[in-house]
Amino acid sequence: MTVEQLISFARGAPSLDIVDVEGLKAAAVRAFDADPSGVTAYGTSVGYLPLREWIAEKHGVGADQVLVTNGSLQADAFLFDHLVRPGDAVVVERPTYDRTLLNLRNMGGELHAVTIQPDGMDTAELRKLLESGVRPKLAHVIPNYQNPAGVTLSLEKRRELLDLAAEFGFTIFEDDPYADIRFRGEALPSMLSMDTRNVVVHASSFTKTVCPGVRVGYLVGPADLIGDIAKKATNLYISPGMVSQAIVHQFCVSGDIRRSIETVRAALGERASVLAESLRRHIPQARFVQPDGGYFLWVELPEDVEVDQLAPAAAERGVAVVKGSDFVVDGGRHALRLAFSAVTVDRIDEGVRRLAEAMEAVRS
Ligand SMILES: Cc1ncc(COP(=O)(O)O)c(C=O)c1O
Repeated sequence: MTVEQLISFARGAPSLDIVDVEGLKAAAVRAFDADPSGVTAYGTSVGYLPLREWIAEKHGVGADQVLVTNGSLQADAFLFDHLVRPGDAVVVERPTYDRTLLNLRNMGGELHAVTIQPDGMDTAELRKLLESGVRPKLAHVIPNYQNPAGVTLSLEKRRELLDLAAEFGFTIFEDDPYADIRFRGEALPSMLSMDTRNVVVHASSFTKTVCPGVRVGYLVGPADLIGDIAKKATNLYISPGMVSQAIVHQFCVSGDIRRSIETVRAALGERASVLAESLRRHIPQARFVQPDGGYFLWVELPEDVEVDQLAPAAAERGVAVVKGSDFVVDGGRHALRLAFSAVTVDRIDEGVRRLAEAMEAVRS
């Protein structure tokens, strides 16, 4: 199978055609021209200061509440390392981002998975868990266009979660890299912006709005927590990459980022609806919630389809998917995550057709 023939619904990464390569090249030139000493020096562990300020303004917080990291996965890892000790209870969504599960498990966290519904985490189930005596250190929540389920946490549930965190004394970790990739509907306020009781730590990223290769993400939280994590970051790597952060800063202040977000939104909105149509046509038994934004669509298949068999059968036909079981502590045997971010519209229907063929092969 040649690379050209492979249709990959596996990776949560954008295709090259929606990355503003020319804009990034120009931003790099401006960054070196405008601030050669800042771009080429070590800098400090809180990140490139002008970008830190831009992010602070975007979120309406003080710059001392922002730590700019090498991608938001590093922000996640810093927060977990800071708050979670072996044996600590941690709430995660079911299903959730596979690397979150892996990292929390490796740290010895005791994971409590709370079901995701079409409007986000089942807050009644969470309340029951808390009332049963479980006292989590944090709840990890991906509020917008969730990875992998594609769903968005409703405003009502955002309020409920904030109340539960205050009542039961845990931190909400709002892991929010997809917020700006909205195809339809109104943007909902972040829990960070709704928080009056200091219960939220927020992470986001330029991976989905600029490109993954810049490796620029960030953490926003109380200044003392950010200060403590910044000290650990200094010991770990002195400072994150100033060159890429300065390029992202130029890309942001010039307004290029707004155009880039529009490009990504338009392309991914079209890909999501083509994918949904193709699924209805080729796999009518598939159940899914068509996302309002983001990169992913979660598909539930009939009980007689085992994804352990389906994924290799699809790979043989040149289609890559990720098994639902990767996103849950146990179960997920009849579900798939389909990323539509990297497949152009002319390839989506063919990818789903091959997937349907693989499904029929493993069922018979
Ligand atoms: C929910 C979530 N958090 C964090 C990340 C990590 O993103 P990055 O490190 O590229 O910013 C991802 C990437 O897919 C994600 O889906």
